[in-house]
Amino acid sequence: MKFLGNDMITLEDGVLKIDGYDARELAERYGTPLYVMSESQIVRNYRAYEDAFREYEKKTGKDFILCYAYKANANLAITRLLSKLGGGADVVSGGELYIARLSKVPPEKIVFNGNCKTEEEIVMGIENNIRAFNVDSISELILINRIANEMGAVANVAFRINPDVDPKTHPKIATGLKKSKFGLDVQSGMAMKAVKMALEMDNVKVVGVHCHIGSQLTDLSPFEEETRKVMDFVVELEREGIKIEDVNLGGGLGIPYHKDREVPTPYQLAEVIINTMMEYQDKVDLPNLLLEPGRSIVGTAGVLLAKVHHIKETPYGKWVMIDAGMNDMMRPAIYDAYHEIVPCVFREEREVVNIAGGLCESSDVFGRDRNIPKVKVGDILAILDVGAYGISMANNYNGRGRPRMVLTSEKGVYIIRERETYGDLIAKDIVPGYLL
Ligand SMILES: Cc1ncc(COP(=O)(O)O)c(C=O)c1O
Repeated sequence: MKFLGNDMITLEDGVLKIDGYDARELAERYGTPLYVMSESQIVRNYRAYEDAFREYEKKTGKDFILCYAYKANANLAITRLLSKLGGGADVVSGGELYIARLSKVPPEKIVFNGNCKTEEEIVMGIENNIRAFNVDSISELILINRIANEMGAVANVAFRINPDVDPKTHPKIATGLKKSKFGLDVQSGMAMKAVKMALEMDNVKVVGVHCHIGSQLTDLSPFEEETRKVMDFVVELEREGIKIEDVNLGGGLGIPYHKDREVPTPYQLAEVIINTMMEYQDKVDLPNLLLEPGRSIVGTAGVLLAKVHHIKETPYGKWVMIDAGMNDMMRPAIYDAYHEIVPCVFREEREVVNIAGGLCESSDVFGRDRNIPKVKVGDILAILDVGAYGISMANNYNGRGRPRMVLTSEKGVYIIRERETYGDLIAKDIVPGYLL
């Protein structure tokens, strides 16, 4: 079988290996459910962007900055690895900013997104002198200016525009359509109004234009349309005498969840974006280019190992019950997302099964009608491509601790997140004295 995008996975004599480590042994040693993150795969994914977009720097003399989207996976070991590789950070909360600083990301490589930044978060961003707040509303702009004034500071702001581009992805992860909650509408003049207001303010500096149209995009044409709409806005601003230093096109590149469907690579994305940007070289002084990929950096690098505890045959199908559940990995339950599921030992005989977690929810199903090599109770299954929006969306529903996570690297296997205990489940609960 093909492991599109998962270069770290090999099948040796029918046994699944991750970065050369026998997946069954990892499950045995570290317990299940277990997230396994491959350092080599993250590095490859990151370097593909750096290599591909170096061309932009060569052609324009401007910078390319990759701000890794922390929401995809903000485990400290992962964020530190990416920071060591030279990556910046796209954060959407005080918590993610805290992790970015702990990961030693230089402030000039941190951008702050989100449509409901709090006063506390704005103070934190200003204190850290981040590269830009990607401003989502006029109300937010006014607040940033007020807080910066109180702090005797000047905050860098970029404007998140809503370009009304259809990203052709799942509706729940489309973010740049005109009815979406995100961004400042360009067509109605709202975005221009916000920029002009900012120019009249003493405590903000206009540095950029930002946009993010959605996630898991497998077609490059929306990126081209997005780039054009953003650059048209930059031209409009320049006509008004407003010069833009940074253009941030967000994240969104998809990954091959279906192992028989190729998706565009960062190189193909770079070609489309750079060619489109270059069309504007006679109209404006081209800006620095920022991107905020998340999924395409860490998604393919993660595998969730789970043990088969029960097999149930009904007149309507066979159910394989595993010890990972939707609390560990929500994507199938909330987006009907497809993830490849394979056993760690490939037997010759195959069968069609449904694979489910143990939570009391009918949506706790990882795959239906999957034709996979036959499995038995005690076997380990591997759910692929869970490195993004897996552990970061995990929760304690049904009284289950979040799973352990290990990093496979050339140096060995490292636990990078401990399994939560029963004690962790109630650590923040308080019983009033009268109930004791
Ligand atoms: C503003 C912003 N930037 C970047 C990303 C990362 O997107 P992806 O993981 O698809 O690359 C997201 C994800 O939703 C986002 O909302």
